[in-house]
Amino acid sequence: MLMASSSNAQWSSRWAFIMAAVGSAVGLGNIWGFPYEAGQGGGGAFVLIYLFFVFVIGMPLLIAELSLGRRGRMSPIGSMKKIAEEEGKSTLWQLIGWSGVIGAFIVISFYSVVGGWVLAYVVKALSGFSGLAADSSAEVFTSFIADPYLPIISHAAFMGITIFIVAKGVEGGLEKAVTFLMPALFVLLVGLVIYSAFTGAFAQTLSFLFAPDFSKLTLNVALNALGQSFFSLSLALGSIMTYGAYLKRDVNIGKSAAIIASADTGVAVLAGLAIFPIVFAYGLNPGAGGGLVFISLPIAFGQMPGGVVIGTLFFSLLAVAAITSAISLLEPSVSYVSEKTGKDRRKVAATIGFAAFILGIFSSLGQSGNILGDVSIFGYSIMDAKDSLTKNWMMPLGGMFTALFVGWFVSRKSMMEELAMNDSSFKIWYFLVRFVCPVAIAAVFISIVFL
Ligand code: PFF
Repeated sequence: MLMASSSNAQWSSRWAFIMAAVGSAVGLGNIWGFPYEAGQGGGGAFVLIYLFFVFVIGMPLLIAELSLGRRGRMSPIGSMKKIAEEEGKSTLWQLIGWSGVIGAFIVISFYSVVGGWVLAYVVKALSGFSGLAADSSAEVFTSFIADPYLPIISHAAFMGITIFIVAKGVEGGLEKAVTFLMPALFVLLVGLVIYSAFTGAFAQTLSFLFAPDFSKLTLNVALNALGQSFFSLSLALGSIMTYGAYLKRDVNIGKSAAIIASADTGVAVLAGLAIFPIVFAYGLNPGAGGGLVFISLPIAFGQMPGGVVIGTLFFSLLAVAAITSAISLLEPSVSYVSEKTGKDRRKVAATIGFAAFILGIFSSLGQSGNILGDVSIFGYSIMDAKDSLTKNWMMPLGGMFTALFVGWFVSRKSMMEELAMNDSSFKIWYFLVRFVCPVAIAAVFISIVFL
């Protein structure tokens, strides 16, 4: 596997590519974000609309972004500009690339803060959560994020590891991480689901997650589900386009996208099934927000036999999943800047990573109870403001314009050649990307802005 900004760099195999893309998709968004968004969105109604967005909107866009990346073979900005020129269209379309690169930079700044929490929890898990009760688990978490120093040190450690891997190029190390550790995380999650099923409130979880209460389905829940589905699939931030740029021509993009989307969704649902039985069994609030995973699972780890080993393993694998996603968030800006300036990749990665670290410090200090905990931006904390700007605005709009570009401005013939799908799959994809994606995204969007 390789990543470089040169246009002839390629993945070593289809499997390496799929695992890297799954590594990008599966991360904090699945195990931290999905359960808490589902919890806040009332459970089943959120899950149902989330699944709809993943397979009807997210997957066609995944295909579109991979094919744009493969055709352009440059950074997202370079690829968009090049393809627009080849198609005789305005080079303003490169704005899609810009929005992705800038959005990914904003996201990595706060993603790394949460990644740091995970690293800190690896250390906490090592010393054991034994006998942790529900309220003391919440207390451990809230006092940790209110600490001005520790979370920033953890954030620095997380960003440092990410920079290190991106700077080296990811041959060898990342390939091993994604091909071995991602399946290990999957197996561990299945184990946790089984444990939760036997010890926690599993029946209540099933009805919470899968029996939709449509009275909970507000427009805001729909917008959150849309943003979450894009975030989880790593869409509209240039990551997937950048990975597509290293893709060989003989790889079937449609099939790969189906595998990536299914694995990503599988992990999110498993995370929900592992977490909510504990949440309900201990009377925690499913809508508690960003602390849900950090508060609920330690209670279980504190009680189960072998909890120290399993807890440490869980948070370590979660850290790996987060790092493989963070790499794909840093890669778009690094590939653009090294493409533009021809500067050494290591220097570029270190500089951009450091800038994102500084920006992230504000998200860390903006946690409730911390130094900037009272700062409010349109009613949001600093981290939530960045989260909402990217997830609710940049990503849906980026996705909508990508769909419009591919569906209406790139010629049908060149898309057909690029994708090499069978006729009926192509027709379905083309219909989704031309009509369903832009209309559905615009509908959710317009209703939020105007209603
Ligand atoms: N998909 C990752 C997750 O679910 O944690 C996060 C992410 C990575 C989002 C890359 C966007 C992106 F471009």
